[in-house]
Amino acid sequence: MTDFKRTLITSALPYANGPVHIGHLAGVYVPADIYARYLRLKGEEVLFIGGSDEHGVPITLKARNAGITPQDVVDKYHAMIKDSFQRLGISFDVYSRTSAPIHYETASQFFRNLYDGGKFVEKTTAQYFDEETGQFLADRYIVGTCPKCGFEKAYGDQCESCGTSLSPTELITPRSMLSGNTPVLKETKHWYLPLDQYEPWLREWILEGHKEWKSNVYGQCKSWIDSGLQPRAVTRDLDWGVPVPLDEAQGKVLYVWFDAPIGYISATRELTPEWEKWWKERDTRMLHFIGKDNIVFHCIIFPAMLKAEGSYNLPDNVPANEFLNLEGDKISTSRNWAVWLHEYLEEFPGKEDVLKYVLTANAPETKDNDFTWKDFQTRNNSELVAILGNFVNRALVLTEKYFEATVPAAGAFTENDRQTLETLSVLKGEIEKSLNSFRFREALKNGMDMARLGNKYLADEEPWKVIKTDQERVKTILYVSLQVTANLTIALEPFLPFSMEKLRGFLNTGRLGWDQLGLTDLLPAGHRLNPSSLLFEKIEDKEIERQVEKLLATKKANEAATAGVTPAKDSINIDQFGMMDIRTGTVLEAEKVAKTQKLLKLKIDTGIDVRTVVSGIAEHYTPEEMVGKQVCILVNLEPRPLKGIESKGMILCAQDPSGKLVLVSPETVVKNGAEVK
Ligand code: 2FM
Ligand code: ZN
Repeated sequence: MTDFKRTLITSALPYANGPVHIGHLAGVYVPADIYARYLRLKGEEVLFIGGSDEHGVPITLKARNAGITPQDVVDKYHAMIKDSFQRLGISFDVYSRTSAPIHYETASQFFRNLYDGGKFVEKTTAQYFDEETGQFLADRYIVGTCPKCGFEKAYGDQCESCGTSLSPTELITPRSMLSGNTPVLKETKHWYLPLDQYEPWLREWILEGHKEWKSNVYGQCKSWIDSGLQPRAVTRDLDWGVPVPLDEAQGKVLYVWFDAPIGYISATRELTPEWEKWWKERDTRMLHFIGKDNIVFHCIIFPAMLKAEGSYNLPDNVPANEFLNLEGDKISTSRNWAVWLHEYLEEFPGKEDVLKYVLTANAPETKDNDFTWKDFQTRNNSELVAILGNFVNRALVLTEKYFEATVPAAGAFTENDRQTLETLSVLKGEIEKSLNSFRFREALKNGMDMARLGNKYLADEEPWKVIKTDQERVKTILYVSLQVTANLTIALEPFLPFSMEKLRGFLNTGRLGWDQLGLTDLLPAGHRLNPSSLLFEKIEDKEIERQVEKLLATKKANEAATAGVTPAKDSINIDQFGMMDIRTGTVLEAEKVAKTQKLLKLKIDTGIDVRTVVSGIAEHYTPEEMVGKQVCILVNLEPRPLKGIESKGMILCAQDPSGKLVLVSPETVVKNGAEVK
């Protein structure tokens, strides 16, 4: 590692189009927070940057569907995300947003610098355009069939089924998300970052120069670089985003993935006038905490942007995590398959650290991992309560009981005392080693080993027995136990900040620095402790059952929503559709067809004639209900005999997943015989 004086930690800016969930936390914010707290505790100069990513097509689509503006969408979720991060104790130095004026200014300037430096390639290409709405269809405004896997709802930029990154023209049978129409190709000009030109440099910088990056990160970079980099458009034809700062680019904005990482710079500018020190001085080290879906943007595209600009530092490391699943299934916002942070905070008040603990102990560092409520309960009850809570509680309660809550003076140390105290600095070394290489789950385990050490020590020494015969010896045992407890407030501070603050309250001590970790005289003899209570509480079965039931209800709702929906049939053209003659008509008479369950015989005024239609709706509508109803009827269906009655046409119905049929009728009554098209 090169020498550095300060560390800039960035954490991926979450899209402000929904709340954050445990997947975001485990992948990005919890490890970034642990690292920031660790460095602060070491007295290092550190900034921890966060903010909301407020551009991109999903936000505009969400706004459109809800009939509100994109700004309304991001205002709502930015406030919500910021508040829940704060309540969880994610210790950002700044939490900004990309709709802030300072971001518009920073991102525009960045683009201008590259433009003026001749770093872009301009290209006019044919892109899909929706003629009905008069809009170009960028990224997620367009869906179609994935050319790789055949998934029918692949987006213009990516297939969510097979993960392939796509361009809209690769989609088979593309459709506009706005009108459902087939789009046409129309020429438009855009600015591209010629990533192909950066390939030799990226190869050198990452593949040769950063072999120490996590293997999942290095591997993804290698595979992108080896498969050949293409120029990437950094502008889009959209009306939500940072306008492209060129006169000839009216109606165009910066691509969200161009402006979002610049958001880290804007946030730093918002925080401090010294922002350049953090971005440009070579003795600053920059780390990007992200999830694996962001690797290419942070390891290849953003660095190429920074390199092209020329005056910025490049990331030193990008400790990306894999994904967290929930109860065996991929977390999904659209399927509501997630544990939402704001809900957790409401439902488990005071248990912020428990969530951080579980997400760290089970962090998806090297492979995807699974969060289960059962594991959450077990880790709380068998680890936080039974190991950490149990140890500190015994040390504190015994000191209260035997020595009036005052740290006793130690006598001569035994071999076990000495070894226990010496192990503290050994564990310190292990925690540091793990944290320095971004192995947070291992670091937490090392930290918990300190509590295990304390428990083993008490179990070996049995002060509750010794007190009966040798009070002096118990003084030493509790002295040692209390030093271990004080060490825990340092070792576990990055992971469990609220709980360690509480513990420091019991110990009547202020925050200790990382350099004091391993010391064996943190609490001097005669120091008074405060009254204590339990550090962690057991989580009962019923609390877990409630969460599991909530997920089961989600699963059922999802199944019901998708059940019975048959896949789309092969396409037809408009002429084929036009062969069907569908008209409005009114039911004049209705009666059940004898000896059948399902059939009604209807006399219908079709505007053209009055005719008989036999329809299979008797289980859903009574004859009385049908009389007077206006319906849609396919009038040119070949007549066919049904139970001896000639049926001339078919009335249109929709069937819901439970099998219930409902009539398809005009919204308001229209003249009979009106064509339905
Ligand atoms: O994947 C995401 O959620 C993006 N909003 C992350 C952006 S990170 C950075 F570039 F801002
Ligand atoms: Zn696919």
